Amino acid sequence: MSDVVEQAPVGSTIASVTRVTEPFRVPSSRYVSPVWADLEHERLWPHVWQLAGTLDHVTKPGDWFEYQVGWISVVVVRADDGTLRAFQNVCRHRGNALVCGEGRELSELRCGYHRWCWNLAGTLKEVPSRKGFGAFRNDEFPLIEVQVDTWAAFVFVNLDLAAEPLETFLEGVPDDALWLGLEDFHCTYDLVVPMPCNWKTLIDGFSETYHVQGLHREMLPMTDDVNSPQRLFGRHAKLVQPYGVASPRLRGGATDQEIFDAFVEVMGTRIGQSTTEPAGPVPTVDGVPLRDVLADEVRATAAGLGADLSALSTDQVLNMQQYNLFPNMTIIAFPDLMQVVKSRPGPTPDECFMDIFVFERRAAAAPRTPPVRATVQPGDVDFGLVVNQDVEALGRVQRGLHQPGFTELVLSGEECRIVNLHRNLEHFLGISPSDISGG
Ligand code: FES
Ligand SMILES: [Fe+2]
Repeated sequence: MSDVVEQAPVGSTIASVTRVTEPFRVPSSRYVSPVWADLEHERLWPHVWQLAGTLDHVTKPGDWFEYQVGWISVVVVRADDGTLRAFQNVCRHRGNALVCGEGRELSELRCGYHRWCWNLAGTLKEVPSRKGFGAFRNDEFPLIEVQVDTWAAFVFVNLDLAAEPLETFLEGVPDDALWLGLEDFHCTYDLVVPMPCNWKTLIDGFSETYHVQGLHREMLPMTDDVNSPQRLFGRHAKLVQPYGVASPRLRGGATDQEIFDAFVEVMGTRIGQSTTEPAGPVPTVDGVPLRDVLADEVRATAAGLGADLSALSTDQVLNMQQYNLFPNMTIIAFPDLMQVVKSRPGPTPDECFMDIFVFERRAAAAPRTPPVRATVQPGDVDFGLVVNQDVEALGRVQRGLHQPGFTELVLSGEECRIVNLHRNLEHFLGISPSDISGG
């Protein structure tokens, strides 16, 4: 089993999951019940920090985008003075949504219904036929402010003005990730994929690697999915997984050529190779272990893109650093490669939206430009071998969760990041932690 380590609990309801004497059991109703989903819409989404977009979405004054989660809609805009502002996307007159989608060069937020108008700082500045309303002051009706803050290139929002600052919410994650230089990553694609599963079904699939042996067997020659330490920060969590080495689950091990073939198939772009072409002969340097050779090739490819990884060790270059940020976001990072996957609830508990943010590392101070934003259907886009397999599997899991005889998920300590999600969810929803046994 994975080396499940280091628990730093935050909040009295969050117990340690490091020593497991019996399975954790989670009621399956949490994944299919409209009542549970309503509770999340009422108590979680309006109160939790969540990733809305990136700095690349809002580089210049007047750049803006809309962020939706359930019924909630937020507009994030870079104001004239260069600061980021966020507002609930609603007109104070009769509730029309002010914006839809994204755009540039916005100079004001003008409602399309009856043309009330605010500046980008959220101050009401114009009301047509104003006399008909009698007397009121413009400062009585500002746009409804939303907290907005950033870490690295990530733009987070929180509708709860009484919520703790983002910096506190993120616990020790930014410090832990400091060496990765995440601030040098630029978002190039922001893809939305409607998925036939609950938002937790999706993010659970990105919260454990127990399923590598089932769903991603092609990875077994190139990753140690067994000796992969996990860490719980309290509400967030982390996995470190070595790549470029065979899984102990492969009883006969793997040759260097097999490790290399699998490495290229899963992440060949890191060494300048196509993931869809045959890998070719394994590179060798006399007396140098394959992992060190691979790390050098990654460093050389990254250098060509302006990233200097020369000070980083082989482990730092080849081990995946995966962060799971409560409630719905995961960062999959290497010093030269980063993707973010996020899930948002859909119209029913059986639907969600998978957001995939693709990043490229650029030289420090390289200008930011807006990413390509698109909604794509599952199967229409090649996300790479591993994510393609995840996308294909999750609808089957959601169907299984509905079977009348299936009443609970049974989780191991290796799946502690899922357990941690539920314990924090209980905390937000005000649910008794006794609903999960184990520990
Ligand atoms: S609803 Fe916006 S101006 Fe009337
Ligand atoms: Fe997966």
